[in-house]
Amino acid sequence: MSCDRDSVGLTPVAQRPFELGARGDALSLEGRVALVTGASGGLGRAVVAELRGRGAAVYGADIAGEGVFRADLSTASGNREMVAHVLESAGRLDILALNAGTQFLAPLDQFPDAEWDRLRMVMLDGPFFALKAAWPALTTSPGGRVVVTASPASFGGGNQKVGYAAAKHGVLGLVRTAALEGATLGLTVNAIAPGWMDTGLMRGQVEARALKAGLTVEEVVAGFRAAQPGDRFIEVAEVAAVVGFLASPAASAVNGVCIPIDLGASACA
Ligand SMILES: NC(=O)c1ccc[n+]([C@@H]2O[C@H](COP(=O)([O-])OP(=O)(O)OC[C@H]3O[C@@H](n4cnc5c(N)ncnc54)[C@H](O)[C@@H]3O)[C@@H](O)[C@H]2O)c1
Repeated sequence: MSCDRDSVGLTPVAQRPFELGARGDALSLEGRVALVTGASGGLGRAVVAELRGRGAAVYGADIAGEGVFRADLSTASGNREMVAHVLESAGRLDILALNAGTQFLAPLDQFPDAEWDRLRMVMLDGPFFALKAAWPALTTSPGGRVVVTASPASFGGGNQKVGYAAAKHGVLGLVRTAALEGATLGLTVNAIAPGWMDTGLMRGQVEARALKAGLTVEEVVAGFRAAQPGDRFIEVAEVAAVVGFLASPAASAVNGVCIPIDLGASACA
């Protein structure tokens, strides 16, 4: 079955419904090599820890931070060099977690062209370049997995978030197309849409909103928390656990979806 019947017509080269990790455990990532972008950030660090905890050898990449492959992942060359580094070091790549992100808030008519470009390049162009460079390795892996960090802003607009929302909407087009093309090659490609997590990216927005609205940081933080059922932030480890599942053999039939991890916020009418 092909969703877009007139487009790809790929011949299945692999039927890998459920290949277990080296430990024979459907959630184990032993023997797998993973690459996480945005690995110096709040969620990225948690994803690195989660995948390592499940037994994968994990490489991190980011434009900043220690112990990661340093690259500007808004560029084609940065993404190609990152993937080449992992393949040269490990000889394989099974799991790609595309998570680097950034934010800029401004009304649409004042949104700087350069910020529009920067947000799109970091969160949409970058994942495309990384996925393209990693495709041969991922599609010859016994359990190729891609997980892209999307957002609730992948499904709706947000006040002053035109650059972010447009890039995160685009992420779903990338994920769904890659999922269809990868399905015949034994690869799964999925997205996650976390609600508010208390990370650097969230704090940057809090400060911008506090300044604009004449509120304290604490008042804005309380408003963000209250926007989520349960009146709390989502822990990065809660989100990373879902990435760990999607990266595992247990998720072999989950493909082309975006999983909300938002305490039920998206269940509201
Ligand atoms: N924090 C939230 O509430 C929230 C909610 C939904 C989705 N997200 C998404 O989660 C992902 C992780 O964000 P986070 O909340 O951990 O924020 P964060 O700011 O802690 O981490 C983002 C990381 O991306 C890196 N990065 C930015 N530009 C880069 C570039 N050009 N090249 C390489 N690395 C670059 C940063 O250096 C940083 O380490 C992002 O894609 C973000 O859009 C966050």
